[in-house]
Amino acid sequence: MKVFVTGGTGSIGLPVVQNLLSHGYEVLALARSERSVRLLKKAGAVVIDGDLRRPKDWLAQIGEIDVIVHLGLEFSPEDGEIDKGFLSALIESRSGQKPLRFIMTGGCWIYGNTGDHKAQEGEGFDESEAWDWWAQSLELANSALELETIVIHPAMVWSKDGNCFGMLDDIRSGGPVRVHENADHRWTLVNDEDLSDLYRLVLEQGQPGEEYNAAGEEGVCLGDLARELCKNHNHHSWLDVVAIADTVREQGEWAEGFGLDQQMSSEKARRELGWKPKYCDISSFFSSRHE
Ligand SMILES: NC(=O)c1ccc[n+]([C@@H]2O[C@H](COP(=O)([O-])OP(=O)(O)OC[C@H]3O[C@@H](n4cnc5c(N)ncnc54)[C@H](OP(=O)(O)O)[C@@H]3O)[C@@H](O)[C@H]2O)c1
Repeated sequence: MKVFVTGGTGSIGLPVVQNLLSHGYEVLALARSERSVRLLKKAGAVVIDGDLRRPKDWLAQIGEIDVIVHLGLEFSPEDGEIDKGFLSALIESRSGQKPLRFIMTGGCWIYGNTGDHKAQEGEGFDESEAWDWWAQSLELANSALELETIVIHPAMVWSKDGNCFGMLDDIRSGGPVRVHENADHRWTLVNDEDLSDLYRLVLEQGQPGEEYNAAGEEGVCLGDLARELCKNHNHHSWLDVVAIADTVREQGEWAEGFGLDQQMSSEKARRELGWKPKYCDISSFFSSRHE
């Protein structure tokens, strides 16, 4: 089976590319820089040279494929326009062909603050302007007869090196660990390798029109997370609570998700697809010491 991946050099995309290749899939992946070309070739993927901003320059080079996994995102104010341009060109390029399985990536932040409730698939999204464009992309994909769209909503992704959105960098630099907005807020988390398994399972068994949440740890307090990370690196716990407005000012509107208080259930993916994430709480994650 031939799979085309956008964002295949990213924190989610590279493990997905590696997972698919190790399970015998033929993987083609988009690369917009020399560095990305090198990474993807090293992983064993066929490289399609191109940029999501100019899909018409390269879409024809993909040829016959069975599935698209869409993970490319700039995290810039132009994300909505870029995504719409890519989707529109993709749909146009598929005209008259059989529908293509299209795996789209949402995310836990789309649910907004969930508080004590665990977000479930299909219960509607928060109306934050930061992710408005994404809902429009989903509508475009769902309304296209050319695509069979399935959505994955990853929790916040732990990287392989054990870092968690800069917390480990803070520890290494000897300073306080920055936590966003409120140390009692919860984040929902998923390990990148576990997540790559889910992308493959969705590709193999997911049903068009369905959405699947991907969380190993469904909700952990930021204070507990930071303290556990400190403990594992023999760093004395020293937290600095940063106002989310400052983070947004520094990183852009998309970063307001760091300030959410969230929990998310992934019971559906476990029940329907047999997904079995290995890392379901912070202590299991740290005991593996991914460094
Ligand atoms: N990471 C998380 O915690 C998380 C959680 C939930 C949802 N998500 C969602 O998952 C998706 C992927 O996130 P990520 O964390 O993997 O992002 P990432 O690490 O920043 O990777 C983004 C990928 O997109 C590619 N890209 C960006 N702009 C491009 C363009 N104009 N043309 C071609 N390629 C382009 C990048 O390629 P280069 O190598 O060239 O930069 C990279 O491969 C996003 O939709 C994000 O919202 C992420």
